[in-house]
Amino acid sequence: MALSYGEIKRSLIGQRLPVAFVDLDAFDRNIERVLETIRPHRIPLRPATKSLRVPFLIKRLLAHPSGLLRGVMCYSAREAEYLSTLGIDDFLLAYPAFQQPDLDSVANLASEGKRISVVVDSPEVLARLGQTARDHATTIDVCLCVDMSLKLARGAVHLGVRRSPLHSPEAVLALARRVADTSGLRFHGLMAYEAQVAGLGDANPFEPGKNAVKSLIRRVSSRELGDRRATMVQLLRQSGLEPALVNGGGSGSLDTTTPDTGVTEVTAGSAFLKSHLFDYYKSPHMRALEPAGFFAVEVTRVPAPSLVTCAGGGYVASGPTTPDKAPMPHLPLGLKLLSAEMAGEVQTPLALPPGLRLERGDPVIFRHAKAGELAERFNEYLLLQHGKVVDRVRSYRGEGQCFL
Ligand SMILES: Cc1ncc(COP(=O)(O)O)c(C=O)c1O
Repeated sequence: MALSYGEIKRSLIGQRLPVAFVDLDAFDRNIERVLETIRPHRIPLRPATKSLRVPFLIKRLLAHPSGLLRGVMCYSAREAEYLSTLGIDDFLLAYPAFQQPDLDSVANLASEGKRISVVVDSPEVLARLGQTARDHATTIDVCLCVDMSLKLARGAVHLGVRRSPLHSPEAVLALARRVADTSGLRFHGLMAYEAQVAGLGDANPFEPGKNAVKSLIRRVSSRELGDRRATMVQLLRQSGLEPALVNGGGSGSLDTTTPDTGVTEVTAGSAFLKSHLFDYYKSPHMRALEPAGFFAVEVTRVPAPSLVTCAGGGYVASGPTTPDKAPMPHLPLGLKLLSAEMAGEVQTPLALPPGLRLERGDPVIFRHAKAGELAERFNEYLLLQHGKVVDRVRSYRGEGQCFL
């Protein structure tokens, strides 16, 4: 059962606000729900660290007794280096590295025998990475990052993110051959993330007029990319370049990213804390998840009988600066941000619903729009279990680590 306002308020008595916290019971229930979704597909899940950024939570996933949560998808070479000092030894570096110190970090980890594969989407990076591997007398595993966007009207319409230029199976095969021909590098597989499905909520109350189109994009795109990804794998296999790893998916597509679409594993991160952008999906597997990550700010002012103002709260998410990137007042129910101020740099005013009174000193509970970014604002997270604070754990920031 989700914690009520009263339970959270009691558990936070004596804590200095603002504070970030995780309902560990909800987090664990989300793990089980995610596993329920992927179990029929018989493939493991590689957690996305960017959507957690708290070593305790990452390790909790990897220690799950199912053994289905394996390795991490990380977002920087320095991060991989840091996580390896914590005993994690299986990395997919999912965003290309280019500067030499980052390539050296990858080579060092490979030399130490850590399992690390790094995504590449261009011959230029391949050449540098190959040279680095040779300089370190090691071999680096390479995954090609594939553009899984939906292209319509001969490419005039691009629905998806702008990351990799590798779109067609032929382009993927050509670069995979180059990897295999580069001394110091080994072709390991593909990372083929379908952002326009996984990250596209089709029940968004902030833009209700666009939801039907988003559902259509999700449907059409899932079909197109499923076929294309499977064709890529087939083509590579026929050419003697069997991909050991094909990663796809995200929290929002765990139901459609299946082995039939060519993947050997899926990734998810946000599903476990369920930040509020992940409320806005129609699919039942997303609806089954519950919020598990929060922050509490203190009411410090009462500017009018129907308003309170809290200290802090302006933890706005990255991406297009639309209102859904603001943190969402969660509890008590019915609180609303004011459009003239929204969540502010040091103060956040809120409109109270009829009948609700809050006093100075009361906590207001918020949810961040994105799961990992909250950890960049707090040094530690409180852990709540059975409605009580049972521990405090450090975020990357609290460990003095900031990667991007
Ligand atoms: C490469 C890649 N895979 C997977 C994901 C999914 O992460 P999450 O489950 O947190 O949405 C993302 C998110 O942007 C991503 O960039």
